[in-house]
Amino acid sequence: MTDASREEHTQRETAFYLFTQQRLPACKPVLTPAWVITIFLFTGFIFIPVGLVTLRASRSVVEIVERYDAECVPEPFSIDKVSYIQDDSIPKNCTLFLKVNKYMKAPIHIYYQLDNYYQNHRRYVKSRSDQQLLHGQKYQSTSSCQPVEFNNDQPIVPCGLIAWSLFNDTFSFIRERAKLKVNRKNIAWKSDREHKFGKNVYPFNFQNGTLIGGGKLNPRIPLSDQEDLIVWMRTSALPSFRKLYGRIEEDLDADDVVVVHLMNNYNTYSFGGKKKLVLSTSSWLGGRNDFLGLAYVFVGSSSLILALVFLLLHLKYRRPYGDTSYLPWNRKSLSG
Ligand SMILES: *[C@@H]1O[C@H](CO)[C@@H](O)[C@H](O)[C@H]1NC(C)=O
Repeated sequence: MTDASREEHTQRETAFYLFTQQRLPACKPVLTPAWVITIFLFTGFIFIPVGLVTLRASRSVVEIVERYDAECVPEPFSIDKVSYIQDDSIPKNCTLFLKVNKYMKAPIHIYYQLDNYYQNHRRYVKSRSDQQLLHGQKYQSTSSCQPVEFNNDQPIVPCGLIAWSLFNDTFSFIRERAKLKVNRKNIAWKSDREHKFGKNVYPFNFQNGTLIGGGKLNPRIPLSDQEDLIVWMRTSALPSFRKLYGRIEEDLDADDVVVVHLMNNYNTYSFGGKKKLVLSTSSWLGGRNDFLGLAYVFVGSSSLILALVFLLLHLKYRRPYGDTSYLPWNRKSLSG
């Protein structure tokens, strides 16, 4: 053996020895009481202010929520709402009065909220063809769309239950006898408009069957510009959800009364769903939601309480660290 190879050999052996004996250099932090208490205090002091700022942002959002599915059904039909909604000869218009309690700064987002609507049902979620939405009729393997795939032996574009059940209530807003301008553009994700719904794909043979599911689509507008459809087709994970309808681009003052003229078309009565109209401002954190702020404050205050408890314990039962006579087996031999 040459010197060099012998050296390499012993080096390898030492490394192996260190490894098997678990003596490799490593970071072994010792969590002394001082460290633990400092870490908890630090967490508390960071999390509580962050939580308060977040809560404040959420509370600054002004929201008006109005349920309208029940009161928009005329008195004689209140026992049998389903027959009202299914009868096309009865006018479906309805008027709501929304009182603004607090100044609302534009843009004011308009949402419709549906409750007890399971857009997350497996058979429903799968009932679409993303390839068809992008490429149109020339894409033909649309079996996932069944039972809304063909009508009169012609393919349906867009096919599937999701598109077929498009929400079709409409809203317009009036304040002091002047129409409030509602911007209905840019309500869908840009990535959806550009990459998931075709620019050259036009609705075809849609809602032509005997049973009408929901909203109709203008066959002269390509899918990439049918933003209501795009919003609707981003299915919600929870049975209670809001979808963006448009934005009011004027401020509303406290004590304003907004008159809403709506068409109550969509049938949620047959499955006991609720419909609500929501007007909401937004903050840098989005809409109103206290959860994040409360979570921060909760974690922060728990840390502070733990820090306090540990500090008191530490002061009360002080002892030297690493004293092996405190180990249970050693204690037993001491006493025994
Ligand atoms: C709206 O959808 C309902 C189904 O929920 C349908 O019966 C009705 O014909 C549709 N109305 C319009 C105007 O599209």
